Amino acid sequence: MSPVALSALLAFAAASTGVLAQDSTATSFVPLASKVFSWDDLPYQADTDDLVRGRQSGYNRCNSTTEGAESLCQTAVINHLDDFCLWAPMQPNTSIGDSEGEEVAWCTKKGHGSRLIPAGAITGVQLTKTPGYIQVVGFIDQTKINILSGDGGGELDPHGADLRGNPLGGLVYSNAFGTNTDNNTYTQVHEWHNFMGSNSFCFKVCDPSGPNAADLCQHIYDRIGVSYNCPTAAQDGTFEYCDGDNQDPPGIYTSNGQVVTYTQPAESLGVISSMPYDPKVPASSNCVQMASSALFTDLAVATGAASSGASGSATASGASATATGTNKASGSGTATRTGASAGASATGAATGDSNGVAAFGVSAISTLAGVMAAVAFLA
Ligand SMILES: *[C@@H]1O[C@H](CO)[C@@H](O)[C@H](O)[C@H]1NC(C)=O
Ligand SMILES: *[C@@H]1O[C@H](CO)[C@@H](O)[C@H](O)[C@H]1NC(C)=O
Ligand SMILES: *[C@@H]1O[C@H](CO)[C@@H](O)[C@H](O)[C@H]1NC(C)=O
Repeated sequence: MSPVALSALLAFAAASTGVLAQDSTATSFVPLASKVFSWDDLPYQADTDDLVRGRQSGYNRCNSTTEGAESLCQTAVINHLDDFCLWAPMQPNTSIGDSEGEEVAWCTKKGHGSRLIPAGAITGVQLTKTPGYIQVVGFIDQTKINILSGDGGGELDPHGADLRGNPLGGLVYSNAFGTNTDNNTYTQVHEWHNFMGSNSFCFKVCDPSGPNAADLCQHIYDRIGVSYNCPTAAQDGTFEYCDGDNQDPPGIYTSNGQVVTYTQPAESLGVISSMPYDPKVPASSNCVQMASSALFTDLAVATGAASSGASGSATASGASATATGTNKASGSGTATRTGASAGASATGAATGDSNGVAAFGVSAISTLAGVMAAVAFLA
């Protein structure tokens, strides 16, 4: 990225968070979203800084040695309906707000050096491929991937107040962009967002060759949840992949013929109790439904192995051992606000969605604004 573009990015980040974290003024500092790594030559850690939030807790070089319940892999892929990852905590019973800086990859398929999402945890998912992005939106028993029961969760993205990303150093790739025909050609995704919480998820990766990747994968609407950031017709109990139109970029809507940009109020102003617009679900087509048993075959195998005597390895999960990760995100302790989701779900009612998407979407309100505020404050 050119210095001009970089300074524009920094200025934008400063404007969007209200503060330019001290971290990012260090002369050698490169924002995570600007770092470029080829799939075949991943660094051990994408983030080598040791700043206000400490060091990257896991690693990006993930392989058969790292795969399994103790993996600290922080390289995620979004490839196909049967092959994607989500960011979730290392340790059981952890809120997203408390662990945003150190989430690890939990994937549906072996071969990524990651943890595996337990069989049965995902109860519905829709993958949509549009001209500008690929996204998975779905329903999950979040306690099976270490997320605290009832946690409204929040947004992970490659930015954050200090531009080091959440998780720090987290990298995302996809084999579904470009002219790929063999599933082995991976594109680094620089703009993505992943909402986790309220037993739901959305992970959108924007095609870096598209004209508006940063807008479609906008990261500043962290308090208005899945239904505004990833409007979709995903339904619990259904597993399908579809083609689709691009959604309107999050926060952009049309009212009386005018294109309007929504401004998300500051966390300090309290719960967001009303929204000036309803999210518009983009058209989808060519949907193909699958049985989950046909999709997540690696997960079935993993579970079988555990129950046939090796259950120790499953329950050990190594999660506690991994707690020694090199940093405990500083400042995040003040940021847990799981209560926020209850009030926020009121805004979901405004969408009038009948399939429950609105309910799960908006209630995935962020605890991250608080975390970012805490980080910004510390910085
Ligand atoms: C596997 O990944 C680990 C963790 O990143 C790394 O230390 C190790 O060198 C890798 N092994 C190979 C053979 O690349
Ligand atoms: C999870 O954490 C909460 C709050 O810290 C605690 O009340 C609860 O007992 C924990 N649950 C489990 C299963 O550890
Ligand atoms: C690529 O992966 C998808 C799903 O993961 C699979 O259906 C398809 O057959 C694969 N293509 C090739 C050429 O292996």
